[in-house]
Amino acid sequence: QVDESKEVESIVPSYACQRRTTLENHNTVFTDALSLLAENAELSDEDGRGVAFRRAAAVLKALHSPVIDLLQLRGLPCLGGHSLRVIKDVLEHGASSEVECTKQSERFKALKVLTGIFGVGAKTAERWIREGIHSLPQLQDSAHTLNRAQQAGLEHYDDLNQPVTKAEGDAIGEIVEKAVMSVLPGAQITLIGGFRRGKLTGHDVDFLITHPEEGREVGLMPKVVSWLESKGFLLYQKTTRNSYLESKDGPARPSSNMDRFERCYSIFKLPEDAKEGTKQTETLTEDTPEDTCRLTTPSLVKDEGSESTKRANLKPWRAVRVDLVVSPISQFAFALLGWTGSKLFERELRRWAGHEKAMSLSSHALYDNTQSKYLRASSEEEIFAHLGLEYIPPSERNA
Ligand code: GTP
Ligand code: MN
Ligand code: MN
Repeated sequence: QVDESKEVESIVPSYACQRRTTLENHNTVFTDALSLLAENAELSDEDGRGVAFRRAAAVLKALHSPVIDLLQLRGLPCLGGHSLRVIKDVLEHGASSEVECTKQSERFKALKVLTGIFGVGAKTAERWIREGIHSLPQLQDSAHTLNRAQQAGLEHYDDLNQPVTKAEGDAIGEIVEKAVMSVLPGAQITLIGGFRRGKLTGHDVDFLITHPEEGREVGLMPKVVSWLESKGFLLYQKTTRNSYLESKDGPARPSSNMDRFERCYSIFKLPEDAKEGTKQTETLTEDTPEDTCRLTTPSLVKDEGSESTKRANLKPWRAVRVDLVVSPISQFAFALLGWTGSKLFERELRRWAGHEKAMSLSSHALYDNTQSKYLRASSEEEIFAHLGLEYIPPSERNA
């Protein structure tokens, strides 16, 4: 029995994009531990270690049964000495001392709190921590001027740190649909990111917008944003033009249609009643106007957290992070594949392309270095085929 399972697990291929990883994870006790160490490494500017832990966690996510003995791990790829030590610790003591230590550390806690602010990355958090800022009240008391994103992030801190449900994602989808249809009928909207992979919650909602006629999508994003703004749906937005030409993750392509690829990082104001069609919500109709007015301030004092959450629930709307991407139809398949995730799956796809196939994959195109030409694709299936990979559907890209 044990031998059989060992044999099955020993054929786990080493690239995450060669494997099927559903949301059914039999090894959360290990993958949670490894993911926390990955997160700590990423927040500490140790990306190499971060990826190593992510790869190890992803291998365990792909297993069909819980690991109960280290022997089961023989022959599995991507499990380095450090990851194995963590797994061993969890197997023998129910927890990893390194993970527990990290969780308790002031540094990690501060990094988590500060990077929990939309617009604050690891570098900024690190700088603030060096100045003795470990909490939101300390940040507010400091003389730091926050940029527009960070101000919005701080203002909507509680909402943005509360997971977005599928029902909320669907409600946002209806609003985006309305916006896009009223500025460009015939355009197509696709849910991407974690929700496309079947996740039930996420940290944001991601949409990809295109039009079946190449070129019709030009200038679409500013119009969509204006529509949303005019209806009061946006608390924050930053639209950036495609940075593909300057980016390092793909070959420069001297084509004018590159300028058409735009994205918008936004914070939506989602009315509570907008969800009612899709989800039964606890409607708190008896809240007084005074209550609703006090609500915009986030809970900056830790002890007030639960109290403030109660108050925040009385608010007739909530803030939700939303990412919008516009792609010309000729790049749609690449954008779809590139924005569906997971992040590790994407990273592994690019690594596979580069290391195993001498190709460069981005969210715009696939370049074959051997043939010195771009490979066209109008579906994700075609891209997997170009890469010599078995097609993996979105629900099995949860590496
Ligand atoms: P949750 O939002 O937490 O549910 O997870 P998610 O998988 O949806 O993550 P996220 O929204 O951060 O990203 C979705 C996908 O878009 C991931 O595969 C990312 O690699 C990709 N992505 C995110 N930001 C960018 C970006 O700036 N450029 C490109 N090209 N891809 C991005
Ligand atoms: Mn997402
Ligand atoms: Mn996103």
